[in-house]
Amino acid sequence: MSIALSEQRSLARHRRALGYWAVTLGMLASLWISTQIQPAAWMHLPMLFAHLASVIAGLGATVMLDVKALRWVLGTQQLSELWVFEKSVTPLAWAGIIGLLFTGAFLQPVLDSPVTALKMVAVYVAAMNGVALGRLTDELHRMPPDTRFATAPTRVKLWCLSSAATSQIAWWTAVIIGMLNTSGA
Ligand code: HEM
Repeated sequence: MSIALSEQRSLARHRRALGYWAVTLGMLASLWISTQIQPAAWMHLPMLFAHLASVIAGLGATVMLDVKALRWVLGTQQLSELWVFEKSVTPLAWAGIIGLLFTGAFLQPVLDSPVTALKMVAVYVAAMNGVALGRLTDELHRMPPDTRFATAPTRVKLWCLSSAATSQIAWWTAVIIGMLNTSGA
């Protein structure tokens, strides 16, 4: 491995480590703030609206990315197109997650409810998986742009599938529990 490549990899590892810390601290800050503040009643509706807008951005970006990835899996799209799409959609996914952590802190989550605790685990998993995805995309970027999924190494194939499954399960768990909480079910 050349020195430049090994430096690049170590830089990417450091960036990811920072990402894991940022997610963990962001999550803890959101939960801690939610236990410390008593927002004015009028704030609930705008915060809930912003929460939903953040769901649309975050979940929308994640679903679109997985649909694009599925098209590469099915052989109807080039790996290089997936790279371009991933670059443009990633900031939207992170904007959604940041918005959810921020607005959620003002929605007074009932943290001692087991389903809400499960939702928070799902939120954490979705965000940590988002950081981990960086490692997978770096790996995909090292492959030739016309690589077909069928010819990719088995390790990469399994990695793509497990990453997409983890992200979809975590996001949808958070969405369903959020809706159930709002409807009082
Ligand atoms: C991946 C992250 C998240 C997703 C996908 C998500 C999704 C949702 C959804 C779909 C709703 C229902 C909105 C409605 O039906 O009008 C909701 C409500 C809620 N969310 Fe989240 N959420 C996330 C993160 C958070 C976080 C981090 C917190 C708290 C720190 C939080 C606290 C709440 C609360 C308290 C409600 C209920 C608000 C109410 O109706 O009183 N959420 N969430």
